[in-house]
Amino acid sequence: MSTEIFIDRGDITTLKVDAIVNAANASLLGGSGVDGAIHRAAGRELLAECRTLGGCSTGQAKMTQGYALPAKFIIHTVGPRWRGGTHEEPKLLASCYTSSLQLAVANGVKSIAFPAISCGVYGYPIEQAARVAISATREFLKCDNSLEKIIFTCFDDRVYRAYLDAERTDDRTDR
Ligand code: APR
Repeated sequence: MSTEIFIDRGDITTLKVDAIVNAANASLLGGSGVDGAIHRAAGRELLAECRTLGGCSTGQAKMTQGYALPAKFIIHTVGPRWRGGTHEEPKLLASCYTSSLQLAVANGVKSIAFPAISCGVYGYPIEQAARVAISATREFLKCDNSLEKIIFTCFDDRVYRAYLDAERTDDRTDR
């Protein structure tokens, strides 16, 4: 059974998957963007659990329950803030996907959805971020196909088109 990758438009807080990934900040105590949407939808118990985690470093990931969300779990990862591309941003962003996938597999997750990490408040150029996301995920799947479904959930058309282009580009380079 190989892992299926989907690129969809939508609101990640509505997805009934084993885990959704949150584009958090190092405090893990909530914020705006998808972080704010997830905390609002999950409810106050999420913040209470996040307070016990002691924060999270950029490129790393930590997991909580999903509480009032349809998803069972939330994997919180901290993307790099875009600083021109000269501060290891691609490596740190790739690590967000790899760390989240590793944590998911370690906890028996079979279906996982990612937002476009770092593509909002953190200002990462969307086309570049999408290529990093697809490439890092495919690299991970070369070593582990225990996941059944990975969904890249795009909140707007520009992100959606960037992910579709990134997937096509990655297909071509893989040949
Ligand atoms: N579902 C899916 N994607 C969403 C949703 C949602 N409900 N809401 C926003 N997004 C998208 C944004 O449109 C963007 O494409 O998630 C992507 C990531 O944007 P941000 O949420 O701004 O995250 P990021 O750029 O990683 O910045 C993280 O912002 O919210 C704060 O606390 C957070 O400090 C941290 C920073």
